[in-house]
Amino acid sequence: MTAMSSSRRDEHASPVRPDPTAAATAHEMAATASEPEHQLVWTDPVTGARGFLVIDTLVGGLATGGTRMRAGCTLSEVADLARGMATKTAAFGLPVGGAKGGVDFDPRDPRATEVLERFFGAMRPWLDHHWVTAEDLGVSQSALDEVFARLGLEQSFHAAIRRSPNPTATLRRVHAGLATRVPGGQLLGDVIGGYGVARACLAAAHALGWEPAATSVAVQGVGTMGGATAWYLHEAGVRVVALADVAGTLYRSGGLDVPALLALRDRYGEIDRTRVPDDVERRPREAVLSTEADILVPAAVSYAVDADTVGDVTALVVVEAANSATTPEAEAVLTARGVPVVPDFVANAGAAAWAWWLLQGHVGTEPEDSFRRLRTEMETKVAALLVEWRTTRVPPRRTARLLAERNLRALAGAEIVIP
Ligand SMILES: NC(=O)c1ccc[n+]([C@@H]2O[C@H](COP(=O)([O-])OP(=O)(O)OC[C@H]3O[C@@H](n4cnc5c(N)ncnc54)[C@H](O)[C@@H]3O)[C@@H](O)[C@H]2O)c1
Repeated sequence: MTAMSSSRRDEHASPVRPDPTAAATAHEMAATASEPEHQLVWTDPVTGARGFLVIDTLVGGLATGGTRMRAGCTLSEVADLARGMATKTAAFGLPVGGAKGGVDFDPRDPRATEVLERFFGAMRPWLDHHWVTAEDLGVSQSALDEVFARLGLEQSFHAAIRRSPNPTATLRRVHAGLATRVPGGQLLGDVIGGYGVARACLAAAHALGWEPAATSVAVQGVGTMGGATAWYLHEAGVRVVALADVAGTLYRSGGLDVPALLALRDRYGEIDRTRVPDDVERRPREAVLSTEADILVPAAVSYAVDADTVGDVTALVVVEAANSATTPEAEAVLTARGVPVVPDFVANAGAAAWAWWLLQGHVGTEPEDSFRRLRTEMETKVAALLVEWRTTRVPPRRTARLLAERNLRALAGAEIVIP
């Protein structure tokens, strides 16, 4: 640990008395969660794989949420994620409810695309009328586009676009937005979520009085979310000291050369170890959680920080890029230790918010317009959460949830306008 982070750790043991109800917050929220509006369980007739669709809330008859594929995916995981999506769209004031799809199958299996096609085929009525989906863990946007094309669906925004008075023009506009590339050549839609997480980290650092150059971050996962998060943090001058993928953790105390390491990834977000420079230390996979960094960004699997692993976490702030990255039990422990958790439904909402802004014509093909809008919204929200945390020790999740509830009430009965 550097001298700076030692003193930062001392300062962090703030004199503000913890909110006595804080530790119960996450449990409380899980316990009071209402039943989803719809949930469907599907069994693949060929492989026996199970798939799930959970529509947590419909706003104006629409719900949005990505589709994940991983061996071991469960209905309760998908329901949890759908609830998170509903809170996410509400936190950003988007006029759409929350949903999630999931398939219990290994995305590396050569039959994965066929399984996905059969799953979406079975979910067709929902895709036609109510559910707007997107990529998620184990399902890339290109795999999704391929499957949708095979099913004769134009793309995964179908249910919303068909409500436009001129669907052809809307489709053309949305396609142009989705095809927008950022300097470096990546699709804006692939990096905007990670950009939002990076801005959430920078806003948290700012709220705590840390300069970017004096802030260190450890990122678990270097796929779509983790990769872009690390990229934009590095670009902002933050020291990214650890990056983990499924094969292990890469560590360098002075900061990793993020662009060079990301260039070594395969399509599953795994870094080619044969080409990693010698000055980068190789550590076990779970070591990313105990890396001494100011901010920990879990950006890989759900429940990465749980009752078993929370004791390993040494970061002063956790910013959730992965959905449900922290279990309620673990969050209660972190809260009691004075470590704020910026919740997934705020920190990783960038991609969902951007897709909706694109559909509604609020952003177009100029990447800076999208970056500016997200930066402003994210920084305002995270600053408010952290101010509340610093002054009253109310956990950011609770403050953010109150914001989402307020927005949802304001959205009740709102007309969804897709130009
Ligand atoms: N892609 C999006 O637009 C998006 C948006 C919001 C939230 N999320 C959430 O972010 C998380 C990651 O999604 P993604 O799209 O980046 O996935 P991805 O498949 O692109 O990448 C996953 C990354 O995690 C790594 N990984 C997997 N298991 C790991 C483990 N046990 N330890 C360390 N690394 C591990 C993989 O090697 C890979 O680098 C998921 O929880 C997803 O729900 C994604």
